[in-house]
Amino acid sequence: MQVLQKNLGFGLGLRTVHYQTILEGEPALDWLEIISENYLVPGGKPLYYLDRFAEQYPIVMHGVSMNIGSIDPLDWNYLKQLKNLMKRTNAKWLSDHLCWTGIQQQNMHDLLPLPLTEEMIMHVVNRLKCVQDYLGCRILLENPSTYVAFACDTLSEQSAMRIIAEEADALILLDINNVYVSAFNHGFDPLKYIQEIPKNRVQQIHLAGHSNYGDYIIDTHDATIIDPVWALYETTIQHFGQIPTMIERDDKIPPLETLLLELEHAKSIVKNTLRQAQEKEVAAC
Ligand SMILES: [Fe+2]
Repeated sequence: MQVLQKNLGFGLGLRTVHYQTILEGEPALDWLEIISENYLVPGGKPLYYLDRFAEQYPIVMHGVSMNIGSIDPLDWNYLKQLKNLMKRTNAKWLSDHLCWTGIQQQNMHDLLPLPLTEEMIMHVVNRLKCVQDYLGCRILLENPSTYVAFACDTLSEQSAMRIIAEEADALILLDINNVYVSAFNHGFDPLKYIQEIPKNRVQQIHLAGHSNYGDYIIDTHDATIIDPVWALYETTIQHFGQIPTMIERDDKIPPLETLLLELEHAKSIVKNTLRQAQEKEVAAC
């Protein structure tokens, strides 16, 4: 399996409201992440624009319908469409979530939690291997935000992520906000979660905002990133080094410059964290 680029830099989730600004302004973006499902219908405006973005920026693909945890058969038509889109955009990589999204061919358009058991791991590993063989590349699986847990859980989510990635030779998209959201909702330690994710498997990072309702948090992607999530990002960079990072915003989308400022903040965290690590190394010599 191929080795993916670790120095892709800083990107943004591509959203239609920013199409013109990005095409006309050529902002300081190293890459763009697209939601694969938005570009699966042949022809029309979405693909017209996507071709233009793909000429100017490296593209990574992020999907929400692989349904990797479901007991439905794999959707080969969907996978064929993904394969074609990867080829069309020359995508650097493809990601989806550790979740299930439907049953009996009904897509519920939600990222639903899986029981954290050995049985689930075996099931997901087998399916992931089939998908990767078909696509001819390693998939990144993202840790979801969750709001309920199963009584039958026998593992932590980070252990499940680690075992699946290792057994299937897959990679991880680590969503720092999702770690924070789930840690808050379930009462686990987010730092421990990050420390238990294997370094060599993390290929991409998501940052986002959420909505805090007091005793629970919903992963709404409609707000700025809060300081504790930035702090967790800093710890993540201390632990893993530089990883391609992007901001996800799906609702109440602000002007592009607002998101670029957040991205600048991510860059400064990485720069300072790496400099401090280097200074420590020099002082230890
Ligand atoms: Fe995410």
